[in-house]
Formats: sequence, C-alpha cells, structure tokens
Amino acid sequence: MYFLAKRLSPLNNQSLSIQEHVSLKSHNTFGLNAKARYFCEPSNLEQLSECYAFAAKHSLKTMVLGGGSNVLFKSKTYEGLILKPLFTGIKITEEPEGYAIKVGANENWHQFVLHTVDRGMVGFENLSLIPGTVGACPVQNIGAYGVEVSDYITQVCCWDPETKQQVSFGNDACNFAYRDSIFKGSHANLIITHVEFWLPKTNALKLGYGDVRAEVIARAGLTEPVSADQMGAITPAVVAHVIADIRSRKLPDPKDLGNAGSFFKNPIVSAEKYNQLIEVFPDIVAFPHGADYKLAAGWLIDQQGFKGQPYGNVAMHAKQALVMVNLTGQAESAEVFALAERIKARIAEVYGVQLEIEPVTVC
Ligand code: EPU
Repeated sequence: MYFLAKRLSPLNNQSLSIQEHVSLKSHNTFGLNAKARYFCEPSNLEQLSECYAFAAKHSLKTMVLGGGSNVLFKSKTYEGLILKPLFTGIKITEEPEGYAIKVGANENWHQFVLHTVDRGMVGFENLSLIPGTVGACPVQNIGAYGVEVSDYITQVCCWDPETKQQVSFGNDACNFAYRDSIFKGSHANLIITHVEFWLPKTNALKLGYGDVRAEVIARAGLTEPVSADQMGAITPAVVAHVIADIRSRKLPDPKDLGNAGSFFKNPIVSAEKYNQLIEVFPDIVAFPHGADYKLAAGWLIDQQGFKGQPYGNVAMHAKQALVMVNLTGQAESAEVFALAERIKARIAEVYGVQLEIEPVTVC
C-alpha cells in the first residue's frame, strides 16, 4: 500500500491511499476475477490530481471505474491505475417550470431514481433498476422502455487530467446517440464528477413500450378503458415499481448471477437490409430507428440456439438471450470473449449482421 506523503488541503486532510494488486471481482458486476496493479478512491479534486501525478511519475495508464456494471476486464491484470472517484450528493432546486438537479458521480443510479420518483417528479421512472452510478449514465447514454437519459441531461461536469481544470459539456456537446457519447470515445479520458439534469413539470409518463401501460394500469388497480383523470393520478413511483418488476423478471440480478446488462448492442441496419432480412426471416424483431431499423439482437441470438446454453462458466441468460451471465461465478475473461466471438461469427454468417459488444472492454 502506498501513502502519498503530501498532505492535502486543510479541508481534505486525509492522505490518499493507492493500493497495489487489488482484486476487481467485487468492482465489476460480471464478477471477472481481474486485478488492478494500482487502485485508489479519490474523493475530491486534489486527490484526483494526486492520482494523476502518481500515474505520470510511474508512466501508468489510467482508467476510471464507476459501479462496474458495464465493463468487461479482458486481461487478468490491468497494468495501470484504476480510479474509483467518490463524488456524492444530490441537490434538487425546484423552479416554477421544473427541477434542476445536480448529482455526484458516485451516487447509485437506482437510488437516485427512487429519490426523484418518491418526490413525485416525472422523468426517470422508466430507467429504474439500471445498475451503476450516476456518473456512468451519460457515458453509454443509458436507456430503457422508451427513455434515454440524454432526454434530461443538461450538463456533464468533468475534470480534465491533462489541464487539471474542471470542464462542463452541455447536452449538445455530449453527442449523445444510442448507447453512445463523447465520454465513450474522444473524451474517455475525462473524469465525470457530477451530472446535471432538468425535469420539466410538464413531463408526462411514457408508457408506450411493450406491455408497460397494461401492467401500470393493473398495478394501479384500474381496468380499461381508463379515463384521462385516472391516468393523471398514476404516480411515477408506481411506474418505477412496474419497470423494476419487468426488469427483474427478465434480467438477472448481478448479486445472484454476474452480468453486465445487454452484452451486445441492438444492431442498426438500413431499410434495404431490413427488407432483405424480412423476406427470409419473416418473424425477425425490429424497430424503426430514424430511416433505419434496429434489430433485436436478443432475438437473433435466441433463434440461433444460444439462449441458456452453457459454454464452460458462461452462457447467454435463459430468460434474455442478450445478456451473458457468469454461471458459476468463476468465469474467465477468455471464455467470455470466446463465446462473444462464436455468437458474432454465427450471426454474421446467418444474417449478414455484425454484432458489437455493448459494455466497455478494458485491456
Ligand atoms: N427477444 C427474443 N429473445 C430473447 C430476448 C429478446 O426473442 O431472449 C426479442 C423479443 O421479441 C423482445 C425483443 O427481442 O421483444 C426486444 O427485447 P427486450 O424488450 O427485452 O429489449 P432488448 O432489446 O433486449 C433493450 C436494451 C435494454 C433495455 C431494454 C428495455 C439494448 C442493447 N438493450 O434490450 O438495456 O433494458 O431494451 O428497454 O439496447 C442494457 O443496455 O444493458 C439494457 C439492459
């Protein structure tokens, strides 16, 4: 264990500890047994700066880890410094037209969602039970049941290790797209410290995805036809609980079965390609995506017989073929990537479609 000798400012006078050879098993929801050569948990900007000074001095690469719910460690040891920043706090300012919200990156996403829906704020309920931290939510632009977090982000506040300055990005500057943003690519080196959101008071519940509306109505003790007044009385908390139930039915809880959520992105194909596919596979599941189509990768993988089929310590989940699971808790990264390659090859061969791994792969 290293203790950086220099004392930090009087307000933050704890020494920063940088640990060596730390197991990352409990820091990634897939439960891969990787190690970090160095690991630390800075809780303020001075400590962040210390971490980067240490990395520069020892010529180490760095990576920032949030809740570890969307990451796959490819190598057995990350030969660099892993930082897990501990910025916390939720500040909600009510304004006449809506709520301005600023949240520390290390807050748990689902707890934050509950915090808002329990106060009657509409917006985040469809994003219930998504694992991970608030700081990770803009990186892959988390989305579920017809809502993407980019619908509500106003600013992503970062710290730039190169300039040692704070820098903020407005919504447009983040280049949000389906499971993508600048924080996954060109700006992956930045440390997200806080995220700011705006929830307008005019926001309405979004119940259009699949059976969400039917389940919400049943949960509220109503039967169709439901009047506008009855619909208006349904709270975001009710929707949040329904969404959490739907997710728990299909998606394994990482506490029971290690996983990193959807393992592949749903591939986007041109209308021309979609028309060719539907000729041969009339049941193919696809959703319009602008002028293109988004194919349900879960359907493709399911059709090819991978669902619930064990390959050593890993399998595509028996209830949701898009999610790879760590069946025994002992999965090795080689098995994970071997199964990924096997599936990619089969889907390319049968459908002529390239699947892309959705979580961030760390080498
Ligand atoms: N399907 C099958 N077999 C399966 C799984 C799915 O046939 O084993 C078909 C079904 O027809 C189903 C369709 O695929 O209707 C789509 O499946 P589902 O509604 O479960 O959603 P998804 O496309 O698999 C996406 C997100 C999820 C998000 C859900 C709900 C991606 C990569 N995944 O999954 O996000 O929760 O929609 O909105 O976009 C995540 O990103 O980690 C994640 C879990």
